[in-house]
Amino acid sequence: MSTKSRYEELKSEISKHNYLYHVKDAPVISDLEFDKLLNELKRIEAEHPDWITPDSPTQRAGAKPADRFEKVRHPAPILSLANAFGADDAHAWLERITKIDDRVEKAKFVVEPKIDGLSVVLHYRDGLFVQGATRGDGEVGEDITSNLRTVRAIPLKIPVESKAKVSVPSHLVVRGEAFIPTKEFEALNRQLEEAGEKTYQNPRNTAAGSLRQLDPKLTASRPITLLVYQIIHSEGGKVPTSQWEILEYLKALGFPVTDVARRFDSLEDAIAYTETWNEGRDSLPYEADGMVIKIDDLTLAGELGFVGKDPRGAIAFKFPAREVTTTLNDIGVAVGRTGVLTPYAV
Ligand code: IVH
Repeated sequence: MSTKSRYEELKSEISKHNYLYHVKDAPVISDLEFDKLLNELKRIEAEHPDWITPDSPTQRAGAKPADRFEKVRHPAPILSLANAFGADDAHAWLERITKIDDRVEKAKFVVEPKIDGLSVVLHYRDGLFVQGATRGDGEVGEDITSNLRTVRAIPLKIPVESKAKVSVPSHLVVRGEAFIPTKEFEALNRQLEEAGEKTYQNPRNTAAGSLRQLDPKLTASRPITLLVYQIIHSEGGKVPTSQWEILEYLKALGFPVTDVARRFDSLEDAIAYTETWNEGRDSLPYEADGMVIKIDDLTLAGELGFVGKDPRGAIAFKFPAREVTTTLNDIGVAVGRTGVLTPYAV
């Protein structure tokens, strides 16, 4: 085999093992064997630097720190969600949108976890990961491509499996939630504590902070992963028109997609499933503050429009606040600048 063919083979082998480890959670080779493959790839690249492509697994290593982040205008607004605090709110939502469009009566619903992380927008051109941005104000975000490249669950090339019979639009923009899994967060804090360093408050802020700082090497050292759930924009190719099929399609491309999502024929069943997670939320490997209930038919969902930044076709069904017992030790009174008295609990 020529060195060039071996190089191509190594790139796709390593990408496959990266995918099996970081997306499928099912590695088939040891870390040692993986490192051997990566070292062989690095040796070839040292001899042939002109062969290096942006999807080479070596290009994940943290690049040089940036001076600042460039702004990125999103191809479509990155929307938010209205909240429902219980079944009554969810029924009221259904009633409101049925009045707008009676096709809602026959709608199906997809339920997904609402991950407490950082919304990111990933751009692929001809299957290559070319840009990644934060949500920002929903119209314009920050270009954090170099940081996101270090996140191993993000495919640098899609479809990840070259044999996959799935076509990719020439421009595909997907949205997902980047986060640090609970266990990894606890391990990180234990490590910091042992090293006598300051520990982090919570996984969400740690993930957000690690992605929104200028040194990709620091991002690379943090256990950040992600789950994707939406196609923001596509050009030059077809993508599915239902939320359920979008999740299947993204999975087939090699993106990490939740395995907790379910599709239901009625809102009743969707709510019942959602409520099973009120108790079960702690068994999820990440922090979630609720479940999202989405109208499956994305054409219908889109036509329902939005209220401010909240699409009418989906709703965040929030988990009830966690209840803990606490002791009131004292009540203090703060005096404001204008003499206003504000009592506070200690
Ligand atoms: S859907 C039209 N799905 O929750 C699409 N959002 O409070 C609107 N989030 O800003 C978003 N998991 O960052 C959607 N499975 C999920 C989500 C999700 C987490 C976040 C997202 C959004 C926020 C809304």
